Amino acid sequence: MGWNSWNAFDCNINEAKIKAAADALVSSGMKDAGYQYVDVDDCWMNGRDASGNIQWDTTKFPSGIASLASYVHGKGLKFGIYSAPNTGTCQGLYGSPAMPSVYVGSLGHEQQDAKSYASWSVDYLKYDDCGGPLSGFAPMRDALRATGRPIVYSINPYNGNTCDPTGAHTSTCGLDLLSIANMWRIGADIKATWGDITRLIDIDASLSPYAGAGHWNDPDMLEVGNSGLSDTEGRTHFSMWAMLAAPLIAGNDLSSMSATSKATLTNTEVIAVDQDPLGEQGHLAASPGTNLQVWSKTLSGTNVRAVALLNRGTATASITVQWSALGIPTGAATVRDLWSHTDLGSFSGSYTASSIPSHGVVMLKVTSTP
Ligand code: GLA
Repeated sequence: MGWNSWNAFDCNINEAKIKAAADALVSSGMKDAGYQYVDVDDCWMNGRDASGNIQWDTTKFPSGIASLASYVHGKGLKFGIYSAPNTGTCQGLYGSPAMPSVYVGSLGHEQQDAKSYASWSVDYLKYDDCGGPLSGFAPMRDALRATGRPIVYSINPYNGNTCDPTGAHTSTCGLDLLSIANMWRIGADIKATWGDITRLIDIDASLSPYAGAGHWNDPDMLEVGNSGLSDTEGRTHFSMWAMLAAPLIAGNDLSSMSATSKATLTNTEVIAVDQDPLGEQGHLAASPGTNLQVWSKTLSGTNVRAVALLNRGTATASITVQWSALGIPTGAATVRDLWSHTDLGSFSGSYTASSIPSHGVVMLKVTSTP
């Protein structure tokens, strides 16, 4: 869990904005809710020196990256950075204008860059394919390991094809993602639109077997709080990312977020579903009507499920979840609503939520009480 600069700021980053994000993670209560990493995305770098050492942009980061990392650490948070297995980063190669000698990537410089990151006390690397060879991900994993510093390795191997995480589909990917990275992107970049939220949910749906402690499917960073999603859609986005055991990397401008966005991002009952120690990714358990879905995530404990009743349609709807679809005994079970924070009572065999708004979700914790 953390925050990343890209969705809010694109290339327009600097030291002050990253520090403000770290400050806001603490003052908003997000740190207490579990957000840990402050990640600088693309456009922080400025070429290499004569010895090939990667340089930061001293206009954007006058105090330097090590100093920024130290500031973030001083807040009790962790610090992340970005690169690519190519000559340039995505913005370096495909930005407008392209600036490959400014926004340089790490291909052929893996060990040198990993050493720089470790010397700056970096805790997380986002390594973004950007058209580079997929064979470039393992060398950076090895280079990070060789530093001896624990660095979360978050990769984006999406190059037009979703990689099968086991590497079985060698024609499209050929990487054993579980042994390479801690998390891997599964699709093209998220945008703050309802269509993009459902696109990524649907891609992730078939990938649940591959998620587990230390290696997660990444449907991309959050768009909660960014213009394009209604508050209802933002809550649904957050709920479904929790059901999918996705990394929760906020992508909004934390220093100006609304009370509603803050409440969404700090719902600790939903976060607990995401972070449940069992580490299971939820799955689509039933489709009781057109555009109506029941998702189930097994939580630690005996016969405990997180359930999302998802209304993808354009009209208000009721959705019923049958205990049989959750694989729990069909007798009594207690039901708690994780957004209204209320115990709804004990129900036998099923529960029906009425008046779920269009693009809304009702999120429940169902505990069998035989
Ligand atoms: C790619 C990634 C984004 C972001 C940009 C930066 O598009 O998927 O998340 O990192 O590159 O250029």
